[in-house]
Amino acid sequence: MKFADRLAPLQFNVFAAMDTAKAEAAAKGLEIVDLSLGSVDLPTPPHVLQAIAEALQDPATHGYQLFRNNTQFRKAVAQRYEQTFGVPVDPETEVLTLIGSQEGTAHLPLAVLNPGDVALLSDPGYPSHYGGVHLAGGEIYPMALLAENQFLPDFSTIPDDIARRSRLMVLNYPHNPTTATATLDFFEAALEFCDHHDIVLVHDFAYDQMVFSDQSHPSILQADRNKKRSIEFFTLSKAYGMGGFRVGYAIGNAELIKALKQVKAAVDFNQYQGILRGAIASLTGDQSSVKQRLDIFQQRRDAFVDAMANIGWSIPTPQATMFAWAKLPEQWEFDSVNFCTELLAKTGIAASAGYGFGKSGEGYVRFALVRSPKELQSAAQTIGTFING
Ligand SMILES: Cc1ncc(COP(=O)(O)O)c(C=O)c1O
Repeated sequence: MKFADRLAPLQFNVFAAMDTAKAEAAAKGLEIVDLSLGSVDLPTPPHVLQAIAEALQDPATHGYQLFRNNTQFRKAVAQRYEQTFGVPVDPETEVLTLIGSQEGTAHLPLAVLNPGDVALLSDPGYPSHYGGVHLAGGEIYPMALLAENQFLPDFSTIPDDIARRSRLMVLNYPHNPTTATATLDFFEAALEFCDHHDIVLVHDFAYDQMVFSDQSHPSILQADRNKKRSIEFFTLSKAYGMGGFRVGYAIGNAELIKALKQVKAAVDFNQYQGILRGAIASLTGDQSSVKQRLDIFQQRRDAFVDAMANIGWSIPTPQATMFAWAKLPEQWEFDSVNFCTELLAKTGIAASAGYGFGKSGEGYVRFALVRSPKELQSAAQTIGTFING
């Protein structure tokens, strides 16, 4: 059989290779401690499960769901957004329901790019941002995120000819994998650059509530209050623990929302109504579980960073997300894939190679803090024995 050329760039996938390595290590009898996936390991709150269970018994939820069937969800989204960020949002034209934010960010390039148009993506960055641009036939310009720039892109280094051909910029703060956060000033600078070059500004806000401080992280729409050219993506997978249910949403410029809706109309029939009711319960119900979840991740973060310091591997304390981004010790500096493969084969601990997130991720590994503090401390000790011989 012959397959489309657009599949070729999707074939390099360090994460799929790690999956095979995990299976091999398990077959050898090693107990796998999987710190490679950012899948929240804490249960979905009971009031959310209750809303979904009740919906299952309601035949009105069993048919196809059209746009008008998710009005309540869009209203809940707009209300939460306005309360948190103080920017008014029209639930009818400026909000779109998604089957997870990955789906939305991967489909958007199909609505914006013509083949050969350039997309400015974070390097390291979230793999589906890259996948979506490849599927749309776009060209990627990786914006290097470096420690010396607090993992923020330096727009002044983007060559003029690239900026002229760019149609899309994708940012993501708090950032996966580096855990960096951004300020409103930075978002304003990004907007100015995009305004100047007529570029659509996308912000993947997957970790909007996973910030270890009392202040909320800024939204891109606080910089682009008139929603001239920005669209922001949210998920219920992280702070609300609904990853397996697949629900997210986009908020932003009405034309961009309409264009993404057109792409999605060709592909899917919206999310199941019962899951949307669970999502409404998440957004409008008791928020104490969000805080509890955050406290748990903060305890894990502290336990892991301390335990790593004890083995002589110092990691800056993450201010957000559910990850730790660790610069590899010198002997492994330029080989994160090899480090992760050997660590897994010898100890059963799975981490994600920085290179898998892009060239500028080389020299780092990402640990997902998806185990208890005790398990993370014990993993750190095992890593210590592995690196110190
Ligand atoms: C930056 C980023 N965007 C999107 C996603 C996926 O979110 P969802 O479950 O809504 O598809 C993740 C999940 O790890 C992520 O880290």
